[in-house]
Amino acid sequence: MPDTSQQRHAVLAEEIRRHDRAYYVEAQSAISDQEYDQLYRKLLDLELAYPELQTADSPSQRVGGAPIDGFKTIRHAVPMMSLDNTYSQEEVRDFVDRVQKLLPGEPLEWLVEPKADGVAISLRFEDGLFTLGTTRGDGIAGDDVTANLRTIRTIPLRLNTLDQANDPGVLEVRGEVIMTRSGFAQLNRERADAGEPLFANPRNATAGSLKQLDSALVARRPLDIVLYGSGEIIGGPTIDSQSGLLEVLSRLGFRTPQNTWCCSSVNDVLDAIAELDRIRPGFDYDTDGAVIKLNRFNLRDRIGATAKAPRWSMAYKYAPEQMQTKLKAITVQVGRTGTLTPVAELEPVFLDGSTISRATLHNEDEITRKDIRVGDTVLIEKRGDVIPGVISVVKDLRPVDTKPFNMLTATGSQCPTCGGAIQKDEEFVAWRCVNSDCPAQAAQRLEHFAARTALDIEYLGDIVSDKLVERQLAGNPLDLFDLSVEQLSPLNLGTEDEPRVFGEKNANKLIDSVSRARTMGLDRWLFALAIPELGRTTATALSKFHKDIPAVAQSDILSDIIALDDMNEEVIHINPRSRKNPPTSEADKAKREQLYSELVDEIRKRVERLSELGFARITKENGNHPPNYTTEVGPSVARSVIAWFGSKIGRATVARLAKLGIDPQGSEPSKATDKGMVFTGKTIVITGTLLGMSREEAKAKVEANGGKTTSSVSKKTDCLLAGSKAGSKLAKAKSLGVTILDEAEFLKRIGE
Ligand code: IVH
Repeated sequence: MPDTSQQRHAVLAEEIRRHDRAYYVEAQSAISDQEYDQLYRKLLDLELAYPELQTADSPSQRVGGAPIDGFKTIRHAVPMMSLDNTYSQEEVRDFVDRVQKLLPGEPLEWLVEPKADGVAISLRFEDGLFTLGTTRGDGIAGDDVTANLRTIRTIPLRLNTLDQANDPGVLEVRGEVIMTRSGFAQLNRERADAGEPLFANPRNATAGSLKQLDSALVARRPLDIVLYGSGEIIGGPTIDSQSGLLEVLSRLGFRTPQNTWCCSSVNDVLDAIAELDRIRPGFDYDTDGAVIKLNRFNLRDRIGATAKAPRWSMAYKYAPEQMQTKLKAITVQVGRTGTLTPVAELEPVFLDGSTISRATLHNEDEITRKDIRVGDTVLIEKRGDVIPGVISVVKDLRPVDTKPFNMLTATGSQCPTCGGAIQKDEEFVAWRCVNSDCPAQAAQRLEHFAARTALDIEYLGDIVSDKLVERQLAGNPLDLFDLSVEQLSPLNLGTEDEPRVFGEKNANKLIDSVSRARTMGLDRWLFALAIPELGRTTATALSKFHKDIPAVAQSDILSDIIALDDMNEEVIHINPRSRKNPPTSEADKAKREQLYSELVDEIRKRVERLSELGFARITKENGNHPPNYTTEVGPSVARSVIAWFGSKIGRATVARLAKLGIDPQGSEPSKATDKGMVFTGKTIVITGTLLGMSREEAKAKVEANGGKTTSSVSKKTDCLLAGSKAGSKLAKAKSLGVTILDEAEFLKRIGE
């Protein structure tokens, strides 16, 4: 590389840094955007030709690189404490008095700063270079978000030199990452245009952006930073006060709080707080309070900190803003479990830095309690993270023709998602949709499918289920068997505001778990399918008496139970001695006696057949009358199971299972049927170490049961018999969706 290229790079980089500072920190640019872009492009071209010029502090490193897998947790060199909060001026006076008592006779000086409403971070510079940026986390350790922070242009990648001989070796600065109000509004406009969900407020947008795993995305977010504190410092100039620190930070190239007040009495402090409250609506970032800090560091050291917060500082929080607006409508949303939640649709109002057009109304009872009606003027409030809520109704402004809210009227007695019936849970206050096929409930079915007592699929709890249904990746639980790691890894489990990516590791585990579910027993499968009325005990009972799912679908046992139930009803009806329904004539009586004894015989025959199988037990013989008996599965469940298998969803499920090659086995010993033997026409691959038999023996068993074995796994393979330490063949079989049998399952299938 010619020396001149290196020099050109250094000059370009320095020039870009200068413009960055002028533009981002001092807010006054000397060149146009095009001129800036030209400089920037020249720098990129040079680095393309000479990649060694792409140093960590090059302005090119702000753009954001390839996505990273997750965040490393980093222990803070000096813990990041939080502050005691108050909403009361009285407590500010108490705080000042308290500090004065701890420092008797000392004249105290206070610095009042705006409390920026963003995300606390710590930046570490070593020999002037930005090396590490972390979130606060729990105060002791936080996430390494360096790559994301590098994209924030107000963070210098290299510190300005103050005095070469006396620059700090290590400097940790602390502050708040924020999103400017104008940047936030612009971002939401772009998202609205792109049909993407909007961020609720700048703080959520900031937190969400910092948690992004792909820093290229973060680079497009209008993030900014304000620095107001320090962590570990080794070397550098002596700093002995907060005002001194802010001055040094500013000289080093950082953006510091735009207004601060130096006060020497509590009245001055309270005046500063009041003035800040007056001017903060004009700030370009959200503030939620004022931070009062003892200015001199030597005095701070003398009074120290409690376990959680320093004794020398306190945050005064401004009361949350409330606004009046018009309630235009009340809409109803269906939640994951079918719960219907009323939502207030409001005349948009600007509240505490963002525009609010919806608020939660929780449930019907809450609406009734507050007597909230469409057309009302309502008072809304936003507090921190909480979704805006309706506080109360301004009754004086109520129009004449309003009506109280009623869920049945509001929904037309229908679920707004599926149009099905709705019902009020008497135990709870909520209304819910009772249609088990409602898409809003699909997530719940998926969660049930994966439950420990069902198919025990790891990593498929409520959040993942919700997201899979929302993204239409698994509207039906069997869709899980078609999912790939590539589809699952980028799944965002958080919100747009606070994304949390599922990741490749978890995706692999989920897919492995799904693959294991293929060979789980009939009992677990029957339960997992969420057939109405079919609980875990019934599933176990059915699996003991049936070979597989088609056998349950066409179960003679279940048909017998249903038939017996019908016959028992009939037998009561035709009983010739019935008082309720006496015979009309002698001939009728004779005919009914005949029918009665035939029916009793039929009932006895069927009960005996069931009891021979072990599915029923006769509890009392009744001579010429039907016997009393119990069955493992009651008639109502039997009807529900048979009805489900006969329904569209049941038939589709059986067909889909067959197509997926999933054939859960019950514990009824498999017999050679007229269709052939267990492995007739099937190709089996054997891999791994088998414990109870040799490979040769296993091969012989496959052949004795009608199958053949081959050595490599392909699409044509029907089953993989996998012993322990199975390697690449197992992986391939999983990826092809081949049925995997362990040794025990294999022996079970061949009836050994
Ligand atoms: S000083 C040892 N100064 O407020 C305490 N904090 O409620 C260091 N904050 O965690 C905090 N603006 O995230 C300080 N000018 C300011 C601040 C500020 C915002 C945040 C910060 C802190 C939280 C405490």
